[in-house]
Amino acid sequence: MITVTDLTKVYHQGRREVRALDGVSLTVPEGSIHGIIGHSGAGKSTLVRCLTLLDRPTSGRVEINGVDLTAARDAALRTARRRIGLVFQQANLFDSRTIADNVGYPLELIGVDKATRAAKVAELLGLVGLADAGQAYPAQLSGGMRQRVGIARALATDPDVLLFDEPTSALDPKTTDEILDLIMQVRGRGGLAVLVITHEMHVVKRICDSVSLLDGGRIVESGALTDVVSRLDGRLSQALLGIPPYAQPVDGGTLVDVLSNGEKAALPVVAHTSAAVGGEISILAGSVEHLAGTTFSHLRLSVPAGVDPQRAIEVLRGLGADARLTSDITSGEDRA
Ligand SMILES: Nc1ncnc2c1ncn2[C@@H]1O[C@H](COP(=O)(O)OP(=O)(O)OP(=O)(O)O)[C@@H](O)[C@H]1O
Ligand SMILES: [Mg+2]
Repeated sequence: MITVTDLTKVYHQGRREVRALDGVSLTVPEGSIHGIIGHSGAGKSTLVRCLTLLDRPTSGRVEINGVDLTAARDAALRTARRRIGLVFQQANLFDSRTIADNVGYPLELIGVDKATRAAKVAELLGLVGLADAGQAYPAQLSGGMRQRVGIARALATDPDVLLFDEPTSALDPKTTDEILDLIMQVRGRGGLAVLVITHEMHVVKRICDSVSLLDGGRIVESGALTDVVSRLDGRLSQALLGIPPYAQPVDGGTLVDVLSNGEKAALPVVAHTSAAVGGEISILAGSVEHLAGTTFSHLRLSVPAGVDPQRAIEVLRGLGADARLTSDITSGEDRA
C-alpha cells in the first residue's frame, strides 16, 4: 500500500514560485490500480519524481506499507526506494546488455548472486511473455517487447508499489492494450499497489479501479472509477464518457443530459419519456461505455418546445437516471 499525505513541491522560477504539487494526498491499497490523469503542466512528472524521492518534496509524506520514504536518507533511502518499481514511457534499456542482463540489473546492483539472479530473471521473463528472449539485445525487440522488459526489470526486486509514468504513450493501440493487460495481470502478484500516471483516458477506462484528476498540482477529483463516471457534472465523468459539447437543440427545444448505469442503461428512456410527456424527444449525442463490468450511458437530448423540460427530467429521474438541464452542467467546457 502506498499512502501520500499532503505532498507539496514548490519550484522557484526566478522570483516566481511555482507550486507544482499542492497538497496531494492519496492511498492505493494492495492489489489495486489507481490512475492519475492530468493535462500538460498539471504536475504529473513532478509527482513521479517526488514519490520516488528522485526530487525532494517541499513538504508532505510518502509512505509504503508504513515506511516513510521522506524521512529516510542515504543508504536507508536507497533501500526504501527499492520498494517502488518504476516503468517509464521508454524502457531505457542498456543496449549493450542482453534482455536477461537488463532484467537482472537491479539485482546485480544489490549483490544478488548469479544463480539466484538467473532463476529470478527466467521467472520474470516468463511472466511478461518473453521466456525465449533472454539472450536477445534490446535493438532486436519491438517497442511493446521493450516495455515488457521494463516491467520485468521493475519487478526484479519484488517491490510493493509499481509506478508507471505514461507507460503506453509511445505504443500503438494494439500494443497498448497488450501492455495494459499485462499490468492487470501483474497487479495480483504479491499484493502490489499500482499507480499509473497518464494523459490517456483509454488507460484509465481499461485498467484502473480508481482515478484522480490532477490539475494545477492539486487533486481536484478522485474516486472509484464507477463512482466518478456516475457524476453527471464531474470532470472525470465528462472526460471518460465525454460527449461533444456542440449539440444545438431542435427547433427551440431544450437540451437535457441524462446519465444512467447498469441495467438502467438499457431501458428505453427516450421512448418512455417521450410518451410520458407527450412530445418527441431527440437524441443529439451519446456515449455508452462498459467500465469495470458496468454499462454507463450518457445521452444529450433535445426536449421539444411546448414540453416543460423539468417534467421530462422528472420522468427520467423516475427511471433511475440522473438528468439535468445541459445548461446547468457547468464544467462542460472544462474538460480534462
Ligand atoms: N525543475 C523545475 N523547476 C521549475 N519549475 C518546474 C520544474 N519542474 C516542473 N516545473 C513546473 O511545475 C509544473 C508542473 O510540471 P510537470 O512537469 O510536473 O507537469 P506534467 O503534468 O508532467 O506535464 P507534461 O504532461 O507536459 O509532462 C509546471 O508549471 C512546470 O513548469
Ligand atoms: Mg510530464
